[in-house]
Amino acid sequence: MRTSSTSLMARIASARARQVGATLARQTSIGAPGMINLASGTPDFPTPPHVVEAGQRALAEGKTVYTAWAGLPALREAIAEQLRREKGLAVDPESEIIVTAGSQAAMLTVTLALLDPGDEVLVPTPFYDEYRRDIMLAGATMVPVPTLLEDSFEVEPSALEAAITPRTKAMILISPSNPTGAVIELSTLLRIASIAHRHDLLVIWDELYERFVYDGFTHASFAALPGMWERTVVINGFSKCYGMTGWRVGYVAARREIADAMLPIAHGMTICAPSVSQYAALAAINGPTAWFEEVLAEYDRRRRLWMQALDAMGLPYGRPRGAYYIMPSITSTGLSSQQFARALREEAKVMIGGAGGATDPFNEGFVRGSLAAPYIQLEQGLERMAAIVKKYQGS
Ligand SMILES: Cc1ncc(COP(=O)(O)O)c(C=O)c1O
Repeated sequence: MRTSSTSLMARIASARARQVGATLARQTSIGAPGMINLASGTPDFPTPPHVVEAGQRALAEGKTVYTAWAGLPALREAIAEQLRREKGLAVDPESEIIVTAGSQAAMLTVTLALLDPGDEVLVPTPFYDEYRRDIMLAGATMVPVPTLLEDSFEVEPSALEAAITPRTKAMILISPSNPTGAVIELSTLLRIASIAHRHDLLVIWDELYERFVYDGFTHASFAALPGMWERTVVINGFSKCYGMTGWRVGYVAARREIADAMLPIAHGMTICAPSVSQYAALAAINGPTAWFEEVLAEYDRRRRLWMQALDAMGLPYGRPRGAYYIMPSITSTGLSSQQFARALREEAKVMIGGAGGATDPFNEGFVRGSLAAPYIQLEQGLERMAAIVKKYQGS
């Protein structure tokens, strides 16, 4: 007799695996012929040549063995130097930085090292879904704090404060944001800092998209606010701003006691981040930066295209001021997020992200568009999307 995969899952998988598994939609194929991907989380510019060369050199020189668990000392020093130069932070490369296999591993390391069952973590929504799984894997509870499209999805500090209970241990903040494109202004960060101080909370601060900012906005780092280094865990990495998603290098920076708690977990996951990739990341951080200006100008051009197209479709959105995403509300079509994504995929061969539904109830009513596709493809994809929106708005 054949056992169904559901009952096999119930027998074999841990309760934890079943719980997080229920929140993860199966990866859909984006390679179907004629499909236009308006959902990509991967920047569409290549890893800069000087970074690729550094990786190749490391390979050729046999730098293919484990590095120090916390990462190559030279890379940690370069990260500390960048944090000092760009944010005015004094971080000890020896004891306060851990290089991880992508910032995804950094986030899980943080939740496993700092959270216990029963702890609550505030997360502004719509949000990056992995946060929920990482909090769940630690046995803790995510407390959603909705943000409003009308506020361009910027978190309202009083809403954060209203969600605090005696069990609240931390909040996860991201700026610029995946999936909303929101940025958190300095004045808002200062209000949040005073809440964090008053309620003695940790702040897990994801700044993976920090160089993608538009409209003259300057990224402000939470950890650099007066008194906040003590309670902030900085998550960052090389994937998005250096076109290095597949190299898998990220890092976490936090005061020594926090880093000490994380190191055994990071070690348990991967021992160290990929060695060759760390040499490439070192070249990225020490290398030229001017090339990124062109990337940013092009992403800004695409952002304007998206906004124009959504205006023409009559779909409201939060004006994205950072990252490379835009979140329109699709409720005027009468479809759920999932139904809208399916209609786009099946009727117009267009992929859109943030499908909502049972796996993603906090993002319901919205979809996530991406700027990470060539301009001409965006034009075509948005034209197709306009036809679908018109069809359902009119029916
Ligand atoms: C907000 C956010 N954090 C973390 C990650 C993980 O990135 P990586 O592990 O490639 O550094 C992503 C990837 O899309 C992301 O959007």
